[in-house]
Amino acid sequence: MAIRHYQPPFASTSSSISSTDLFKPPKLHLSSSVRCNISVASKLEPEPHPVFTSVKSFAPATVANLGPGFDFLGCAIDGIGDYVTLTVDPQVQPGRLSIAEINGVDKSSKRLSRNPLWNCAGIAAISVMKMLKIRSVGLSLSINTCLPLRGGLGSSAASAAAAAVAVNEIFGGKLQDSDLILAGLEAEAKLSGYHADNIAPAIMGGFVLIRSYDPLELISLKFPPEKNLFFVLVNPEFQAQTKKMRAVLPTEITMSDHVWNCSQAAALVAGVLQGDLVGFGKALSSDRIVEPRRAPLLPGMEDVKKAAMEAGAYGCTISGSGPTVVAVTDDEDRGREIGEKMVEAFVEKGKLKALAMVKKLDRVGARVISRISSQ
Ligand code: HSE
Repeated sequence: MAIRHYQPPFASTSSSISSTDLFKPPKLHLSSSVRCNISVASKLEPEPHPVFTSVKSFAPATVANLGPGFDFLGCAIDGIGDYVTLTVDPQVQPGRLSIAEINGVDKSSKRLSRNPLWNCAGIAAISVMKMLKIRSVGLSLSINTCLPLRGGLGSSAASAAAAAVAVNEIFGGKLQDSDLILAGLEAEAKLSGYHADNIAPAIMGGFVLIRSYDPLELISLKFPPEKNLFFVLVNPEFQAQTKKMRAVLPTEITMSDHVWNCSQAAALVAGVLQGDLVGFGKALSSDRIVEPRRAPLLPGMEDVKKAAMEAGAYGCTISGSGPTVVAVTDDEDRGREIGEKMVEAFVEKGKLKALAMVKKLDRVGARVISRISSQ
């Protein structure tokens, strides 16, 4: 029996940034198990005043899918991410947003658009301005991307999350996480694909399960804080555009693959909640639907995964739509050894240079770093 592959509706963004446009919030249902609360946009003051003249914010990298959790599971990574600085700017027309500068470690960051309607941080920031009905204040945004673009570490979500948090903060922090996630999802939908498995953990931190898109329902999964968990992230010199990596996916799957992937995703959630890294890793490695279609497009992937497992990783898969490959372990030193073996495999088998890093789980999500009061 064939099952229709999940094809969510494409959420478009308006070409106008005028905040006099009415914000029509998408349906949002949040169950009792969900951390964030229902949108308050409709109950807000007509237009809040800026509380700060400038806000700097950060949002972490994310690993989406986690193997069998395509488009519905993701987690945030500690210590790497994107920064933005948002400033009230009298030079910018009231109700509008301008991107003042973009800096990045990745040289291709220079190719990021400074048109806010074609930049993920810009789209998310404008979406939050619309939610808040900002008409009298112009804002300028500086973006500092520290993540590889098209690297499989949620770079677009990190910029969007940091921008959404900064706009909300500058006007007094009136919106909830769920509103900011919807703003980021608008950016993802326009530039990469309609998926929240990067933006939700980038905003909320930790592991996040997207239970439903319409209405949006999110469940925060708590990995026990006393347990060790290290992500080995190996990023090769190769770009994988999410839109293209989504285009290779099947539109139908078999019932046996459906049963297998659902049981592995359930095992993965159990592994997270129980802090059972063996079970978590086994499930992480087990995707039979998405990874098999994408792995052949990523030179050396099969050998890199084999090298990770032989070096003692509990599990290994493609991070998001790649090309970064993620492995998990409970020991930092072993993580470094696993990373070295994975890099060697990328060089020898994939003919790609690669860099490895060993990181912990980020449990905080997007946050304000500093702010300057308007008084
Ligand atoms: N779930 C998305 C995908 C994540 O795999 O296409 C992209 O980072």
